[in-house]
Amino acid sequence: MELTKQEQAMLDGKEGYAVRKSMEILVALGEIFGAKSLIDVGSVQVAGVSYHNLGDAGLEFLDSLAKDGRVKVLTTLNPAGMDLENWKQLGISPDFAEKQNLVIDAFQRMGILVSCTCTPYLIGNLPTYGEHIAWSESSAVTFANSVIGARTNREGGPSALAAAFVGKTPCYGLHLNENRVPDIHVQVNAELKKLSDWGALGYAIGKKAENKIPYITGIKAAQLDELKSFCASVVTYGAKPLFYMKGITPGNEAQTQPSNTVTIEEADLKNAYDNINDQVSDIDFVCVGCPHCSIKEIQEIADLIKGKKVKDGVELWVATSRTAKQLADKRGYTATIEAAGGKFACDTCMAVAPLKGRFKALATTSAKGCFYSRQSLMKTKMGSMSECVNAAVSGIWNN
Ligand code: F3S
Repeated sequence: MELTKQEQAMLDGKEGYAVRKSMEILVALGEIFGAKSLIDVGSVQVAGVSYHNLGDAGLEFLDSLAKDGRVKVLTTLNPAGMDLENWKQLGISPDFAEKQNLVIDAFQRMGILVSCTCTPYLIGNLPTYGEHIAWSESSAVTFANSVIGARTNREGGPSALAAAFVGKTPCYGLHLNENRVPDIHVQVNAELKKLSDWGALGYAIGKKAENKIPYITGIKAAQLDELKSFCASVVTYGAKPLFYMKGITPGNEAQTQPSNTVTIEEADLKNAYDNINDQVSDIDFVCVGCPHCSIKEIQEIADLIKGKKVKDGVELWVATSRTAKQLADKRGYTATIEAAGGKFACDTCMAVAPLKGRFKALATTSAKGCFYSRQSLMKTKMGSMSECVNAAVSGIWNN
């Protein structure tokens, strides 16, 4: 890979330890994937924030970089292992909280915005069409590539952080036109009636378009919340973190519809639900907000739960960014949800909080949430927002 004089100086350690380490990571990656050069990035999204996933080794690594590493571009953080303010209310132990706070402190010293959300595009880290970025959370990466039309590979935590310290990333993969060409046509013949149907659609397409870039036809309209749910699901269940939706996502007009076609029928959505849902009816955990809830979704939860009570023995978490929660505070949605016994889980989510063994059965709107919660040994049910609120109030999954 060819380096400029300035990049070579960074690799030689002229800008300190963190930049040298970062250049070593970026050059190694570039050489593995055949990049010819580095390119400037407009922003970075760093995953690997939860102490639950990092452990002490990860914390030490971050601390060593924070000594002299300062980010060169707008850099935001993925969810952490707990709500940074109300961790006690969510049942997080003081020992865990202490370690998680050390992780956050390291990121803060690096100059990173302590945003802790997987929807950075809803809180001000919004790239432009065609902009090169280095993001590292699969749903956000898919949203950035497909809904915004920005360009990013699915970075790991260390390579995203390295890009933040250098302000550049190796130019390979989804940064290049030739790797952004759709290679499977997916005709959707099924009707999408509720938010979770988009998660089911993501499952179905992810399975049929494994490791491919889908060109999707047959969808007439899509809301932002539906697209963010679809992005999370389609990449979790197998597709590349880029798709084109005819008439909906930017850049689709410039692409040619691939000749190999698969279809998605009602039976495929049913099959997705059958695979995502376990045989269980008693629910002890309801978590909505995967990806993190928008203010519109919080409003919907408040409207659905107003005047009701979360059943004893059941927890209802509304996972969202702190920014969305602040808007919800002002609109009175927070008060309504909390009066019903619901809890806000800002800065965190069901996949990165230390929940293993704590709950038996989850109800959620999210296909991706089900995938990760099974790893925390929960049975899972996926359905609409109103089915989830009903499960929180009754402790029973009704269908
Ligand atoms: Fe976000 Fe966590 Fe889901 S990072 S996409 S809420 S698994």
